[in-house]
Amino acid sequence: MIRPTPLSDAAMEDALRRLRAGGLVALPTETVYGLGADATDGLAVARIFEAKGRPSFNPLICHVASLPMAEGIAVLGPMARALAERFWPGPLTLVLPSSPTSPVHPLATAGLATVAVRMPRGIARALAGQLGRPIAAPSANRSGGVSPTAAAHVARSLGARVDLILDGGPAEIGLESTIVAVSNDDLTLLRPGGLPAEAIEAAAGRPLLRPPPNASIQAPGQLASHYAPHGRVRLDATAVQPGEWLIAFGPHPLANQSRAAGILNLSPSGDLREAAAALFAALFTLDSPDIARIAVVPIPHTGLGAAINNRLSRAAALR
Ligand code: TXA
Ligand code: MG
Repeated sequence: MIRPTPLSDAAMEDALRRLRAGGLVALPTETVYGLGADATDGLAVARIFEAKGRPSFNPLICHVASLPMAEGIAVLGPMARALAERFWPGPLTLVLPSSPTSPVHPLATAGLATVAVRMPRGIARALAGQLGRPIAAPSANRSGGVSPTAAAHVARSLGARVDLILDGGPAEIGLESTIVAVSNDDLTLLRPGGLPAEAIEAAAGRPLLRPPPNASIQAPGQLASHYAPHGRVRLDATAVQPGEWLIAFGPHPLANQSRAAGILNLSPSGDLREAAAALFAALFTLDSPDIARIAVVPIPHTGLGAAINNRLSRAAALR
């Protein structure tokens, strides 16, 4: 089990070194402690999901140091810009269209066309600035657990699953950020949080829309059809049928895979972390009107395999 490290210049440098190397750093923000990794590094982002033990890949919040860094990953219209200028740094997350040139890895956005962006106060912001890249960070708890407001909570929940826990004392706000989706001038409250909705409404000069009760618990990434490529997806394939593309995993070829129209191997060595990082790009690549059928080999359900299988079964869901 890893003990929290008190804040110091040396601790910050250690954190930076680990983030640059694709490591996981638990870091204080003004809302709750986050489990941070370089948002542009797919393997590092896969480690976040692994450490949290999440059965699915929820999209993550990308923490930025500046407005220009936000503009490097998202498209900010006049309304988003006004809210950012008014409330950042602070406990407001904006869900915005991804920038076409965004370096954020698709695993961090769960393959969505939008990205959740927030500029936190304090050392999380400083770290993103020194890294020069956004930091993807969900709350630093095991899946289903309570969001941690102290470094000791992180240590108890994630123990040795992180490389470093920065101890910045108790979280100032103790509640997660308020999440607002911005689409043109429409504002939708996706999650109430540390910034009161009334404050946002006053600044925006308009009411926040509320998603219908059932939709509010589902990020767009949870929708069954979201991950579906154009063609039909067949899971747990042990042989290739004529004309099928094959999504493979691991070193062992299927007996007849030479008859596949094409093969993408998520991880030739059979590494689930590598497969997670490759998954959305693979589905994206195979999403073409020319590809009618896709077979997927069985992928272990252990560790990150649970989330990979969750996404694949959504991709395979009947539409
Ligand atoms: O205060 C906070 O927001 C903390 C600190 C660490 O910044 N982070 C946090 O992250 O609470 P997390 O992963 O526990 O919650 C993020 C929420 C998830 O419910 C996720 O579904 C939603 O943000 N989200 C992320 N990207 C989204 C997107 N593109 N569209 C809709 N929802 C999104
Ligand atoms: Mg959380």
